[in-house]
Amino acid sequence: MDASNKKRSAAKAAMKFIEPGMTVGVGTGSTVNFLIEMLPEIRNKINRVVSSSKASTSLLEAHGFTVSTLNEVGDYDIYIDGADESNKRLQLIKGGGGALTREKVLACAARRFICIIDDTKLVRMLGGFPLPIEVLPMAQAMIARHMLKMRGQPIWREGFITDNGNHILDIHDLQISNPLEMEARINKIPGVVTVGIFADQAADILLIGGDDGVKEIRT
Ligand code: A5P
Repeated sequence: MDASNKKRSAAKAAMKFIEPGMTVGVGTGSTVNFLIEMLPEIRNKINRVVSSSKASTSLLEAHGFTVSTLNEVGDYDIYIDGADESNKRLQLIKGGGGALTREKVLACAARRFICIIDDTKLVRMLGGFPLPIEVLPMAQAMIARHMLKMRGQPIWREGFITDNGNHILDIHDLQISNPLEMEARINKIPGVVTVGIFADQAADILLIGGDDGVKEIRT
């Protein structure tokens, strides 16, 4: 099975966690796009939707949903999103699509965070995927120097502006043996908006699409 079909099957498996009357938070990326395409099938179950990016909002609207703001819905039921890497403790790297800040906010406000991935993204140690960091543009060079001191190789995602008007640094060559500690350490650097480690904000349920169907891991 190719990666797209694995992503699609993980997205389909997430649908069964949506119960009648729930408000659903929708992440960003190609895996979640499969979910958005399937959501109209259960439209009558869904109370409201909130979105983690302009891209997902557009796609949800194209499928006939009205997207609420997080301020309107408050704490809500379930957030479903992809990831770039996950370990077995459901700690993640996210932000390959650059939407990490709104994703972390939506994950934090949800009572349950369901992460959907294909099986190539399950890793022993995070860091093989370059770690995205959303940064204030004026602090970018300073933050890059900090990351060099932490033995990472920062690469500016040139030409990319986040939905919040900021820049992304992708940090290569990090071996993230302690995700919680590294998340806290990077978050302390002034000018960092969000680091793409979701360890303090790990997933509650991981659905992994593979050749033999979808495997579920819970924390
Ligand atoms: C978006 O900013 C990311 O966090 C995505 O959730 C992540 O990159 C997964 O993307 P795909 O589903 O496209 O692999």
